[in-house]
Amino acid sequence: MNDPGASAETLRTALDGLLDGLPARQAGAAVERLIANYRGATPTDAPILRDRADVAAYAAYRMPATFEAVRAALEALAEAAPEWVPGSHVDVGGGTGAATWAVGATWPGPRPVTVLDWAEPALALGREIAAASPDLRDVRWQRSRIGSALSIESTDLVTVSYVLNELPETDRATLVDTAASVAQAVVIVEPGTPDGYTRIIEARERLVAAGFRIAAPCPHSAACPIVPGADWCHFSARVSRSSLHRQVKGGSLAYEDEKFAYVAAVRFPVTPAPARIVRKPQIRKGQVLLDLCETGTGAGTGTGTEAKPALARTTVTKRHGDLYKSARDADWGDPWPPAD
Ligand SMILES: C[S@@+](CC[C@H](N)C(=O)[O-])C[C@H]1O[C@@H](n2cnc3c(N)ncnc32)[C@H](O)[C@@H]1O
Repeated sequence: MNDPGASAETLRTALDGLLDGLPARQAGAAVERLIANYRGATPTDAPILRDRADVAAYAAYRMPATFEAVRAALEALAEAAPEWVPGSHVDVGGGTGAATWAVGATWPGPRPVTVLDWAEPALALGREIAAASPDLRDVRWQRSRIGSALSIESTDLVTVSYVLNELPETDRATLVDTAASVAQAVVIVEPGTPDGYTRIIEARERLVAAGFRIAAPCPHSAACPIVPGADWCHFSARVSRSSLHRQVKGGSLAYEDEKFAYVAAVRFPVTPAPARIVRKPQIRKGQVLLDLCETGTGAGTGTGTEAKPALARTTVTKRHGDLYKSARDADWGDPWPPAD
């Protein structure tokens, strides 16, 4: 049997199908309205995604990007824990299921999956799209409100993608603490803005306090070396644009870059990257400049000069031979040095 699985192509085809029969102007108008809504104050008393037209527009416009961002975060987790495969998954605030598709693309095969969201139209459309993937046909799409009464079943993996942004502070804390109490691994993704990074750092601190270790992007579980307000840690995922994208955003670019911030934390042993590239590498004549987050080079225990996480720039030149070739191929977000 030809099994397309939960791949990016299968998702793209299913999303294109959503807009069949919906006049292009109407889809464009729904997207514009949602963008305006998301830019304004986030309502905390009722879902933003109200009906099928809203959700179809959201899904067609945003799902390819949230899918790629979550997939990049999950790939980083998979690199740090190559033996681990989640046996079950709960996607909280999962909406139309982008993270569910990303989990299926990272670790193919069926598994028990539950998507929790308070917006019924989003869940209904998620179920409709998931019918395109044999791995996702048995997903449970369950109405649930994130708040003080939130309950999540025990699971291997919890994903929370582009959701903290929509919650008041107390609900963000409840969500992270509840996820930490039921899961072996928690992956949280937010927009790659200074505010998104701040929410990720707050969640990261809660996960570490609950006994988790950081698998990615940080090479360590100590405090983030970024001075608050001075900078923000974020990454970039390339997303091919749909015709709806081109219509709403204008221009003819075939792709766009989705900026995101994330944390992947686990309860089991992992091998985080020795260092991670936290900016787009700068290629100069005969050299590559890499901005790294690294664990630091203290002299070791008992000397009073313990290793301390730090941001540092390293220059890799032609004289470094194979390492120089690797540096030229390296991308923002990659581990450094690359695994053999
Ligand atoms: C920006 S969408 C992200 C959806 C999906 N996780 C993704 O990455 O594409 C935010 C989702 O969070 C859900 N949400 C927001 N506040 C919620 C709450 N208090 N309880 C349950 N779901 C909530 C929304 O209905 C929406 O589906």
